[in-house]
Amino acid sequence: MSGASMVSRLIRESFFKKLKPNGFLPKNYYCTSSSANLPPPPPPRFPHSSKKGRLFTGATIGLLIAGGAYASTVDEETFCGWLFSATKLVNPFFALLDPEVAHRLAVSAAARGWVPIEKRADPTELGIEVWGRRFSNPIGLAAGFDKNAEAVEGLLGLGFGFVEVGSVTPIPQEGNPKPRIFRLREEGAIINRCGFNSEGIVAVAKRLGAQHGKRKMETSSTSAPAGDEIVQGGKAGPGILGVNLGKNKTTEDAAADYVQGVHTLSQFADYLVVNISSPNTPGLRQLQGRKQLKDLVKKVQAARDEMQWGEEGPPPLLVKIAPDLSKQDLEDIAAVAIALRVDGLVHFPRQLLLPL
Ligand SMILES: Cc1cc2nc3c(=O)[nH]c(=O)nc-3n(C[C@H](O)[C@H](O)[C@H](O)COP(=O)(O)O)c2cc1C
Repeated sequence: MSGASMVSRLIRESFFKKLKPNGFLPKNYYCTSSSANLPPPPPPRFPHSSKKGRLFTGATIGLLIAGGAYASTVDEETFCGWLFSATKLVNPFFALLDPEVAHRLAVSAAARGWVPIEKRADPTELGIEVWGRRFSNPIGLAAGFDKNAEAVEGLLGLGFGFVEVGSVTPIPQEGNPKPRIFRLREEGAIINRCGFNSEGIVAVAKRLGAQHGKRKMETSSTSAPAGDEIVQGGKAGPGILGVNLGKNKTTEDAAADYVQGVHTLSQFADYLVVNISSPNTPGLRQLQGRKQLKDLVKKVQAARDEMQWGEEGPPPLLVKIAPDLSKQDLEDIAAVAIALRVDGLVHFPRQLLLPL
């Protein structure tokens, strides 16, 4: 008996021993330990010891060795290109799952590093400089994907120029009852009614703190030349990390929630976002009125500025506004943003709000 056929027989035997410990084996299978009581086994349909079987096993092993040898000769960048192409095969599988389950799986995979890493450097023309930081490219991941900062490293590794975690609320909260994410297959879009499901600022601070510590150790061993005016990348590593702050559903004093977020999380952020855009938290969008916004931004800026900052200064503060504001609302927001020197506004295209 050849080595390959012996291995295959052993595997079959141990498999069926596990499945059928009492010896009730399916037709055509037998188990040596009980073979004394059984009639001699019928010959296998495709004996591995046959010439064809040996040829097939040999060819498979040969192909595997040749494939492995070829893959090991290609450069890392080509290999990483293959990995990105291969992951497209998984997409149809994800589309069959409940949207929130698919989202959860994707975050878990990225958190474990089970995602391809972009080894190809971004073309220099794609780089932009904002707030004294260099973004290697202008494409980032918006808030809402990695709400609890579980997968920052994996997501930046995918090649994003920046990743925005959150929205993070001060106290952990469940968000709206499920289902709360809905696919619009024909439009290739998604409706989000999550309502700020968040593990809270303490859990997120712990994760970002651990990552920040690791990053510090890495940079101290590969220190960048001092005196560079533009910092390459941010606190999370080569990419930029934004922290998007939300408020708890039941909090009356919204500003107090954002201030807590600033005190706990701004030390880890390359930029901060005060999110008042969501229609899923009652009263949130009313904070976009001229007076309310002015009060809110002043308090949040004061909270940030009263903290101690090193040479790089405090993180810039942005306000995320709703997509469907009136002209008057927009003028009010612009006036406040200019008067208080807000560092930026996050705005996204008008959405069609559909009844379900
Ligand atoms: C499932 C889901 C959850 C989201 N959660 C948040 C969130 O917690 N905070 C936030 O500011 N935006 C959240 N967003 C909004 C996105 O950040 C983004 O602004 C929005 O999807 C529009 O960008 P797009 O047109 O590229 O999708 C969420 C979006 C989706 C689809």
